[in-house]
Amino acid sequence: MRKKIIAGNWKMNNTISQAEDFVASIIDRINVSDREVVICPSFVCLDTVYSVIENTNVKLGAQNVYFEEKGAYTGEISADMLVSCFVDYTIIGHSERRNIFSETDEMINKKAKTLLTRDIKPIICVGETLEQREQNKHFDFVKSQVINALKDIDEKSVAEKIVIAYEPIWAIGTGKTATAEQANEMCKFIRDTISELYSKKVADKIRIQYGGSVNAKNASQILNMPDIDGALVGGASLKDEFVSIVNFE
Ligand code: 13P
Repeated sequence: MRKKIIAGNWKMNNTISQAEDFVASIIDRINVSDREVVICPSFVCLDTVYSVIENTNVKLGAQNVYFEEKGAYTGEISADMLVSCFVDYTIIGHSERRNIFSETDEMINKKAKTLLTRDIKPIICVGETLEQREQNKHFDFVKSQVINALKDIDEKSVAEKIVIAYEPIWAIGTGKTATAEQANEMCKFIRDTISELYSKKVADKIRIQYGGSVNAKNASQILNMPDIDGALVGGASLKDEFVSIVNFE
């Protein structure tokens, strides 16, 4: 049985004091053990958020990493730095990183491999544009993103460490959620792709999240779909509403 994983991607929101106050206000209500909960604040808030969630079941996540070990890469953050902040998960390949900061599949693959060397679990984001969906190219596109992101990654890592987040770009921050059926259809397609690439055993183990306008109202419908193993939540993870999403029934 795959444990559901609900992660809050704060994106570029919350100062240190806002982060501390907010997490302190919800921590007792998101400290659950039957599902995994991850908070992904900005880099500057990692330490503060950790100080609130330390000694609970809630895990810490980062929103990005650079693939080189160290050196002259002004403004970048290494996997070792994330380890030193007690980061368990790191989001890579978010569509905002791909589109605004021109990240390529190749970079995302390097980032995944770098994180795995430091035992940080990558949350790899994939997802199509509205245009691709309308042209019925969404399956091929997402398949190529999955194949490229996982290039040369061993099956044990894929089964046990990697999380894939299916985030259709047209559903991010738009209030326009994919239907639970559309989301499940693509998550199942991703699972079938993993089965082809690795094995059914690996496909049965890997966790695949849905992300895109998940909120307290639609969470339970989405999260009860058979191939959806969790949610990557943006806007609603900044509000008390996150508590209801985590505690969906
Ligand atoms: P929203 O939940 O705000 O649509 O954002 C989704 C997302 O991009 C999470 O990574």
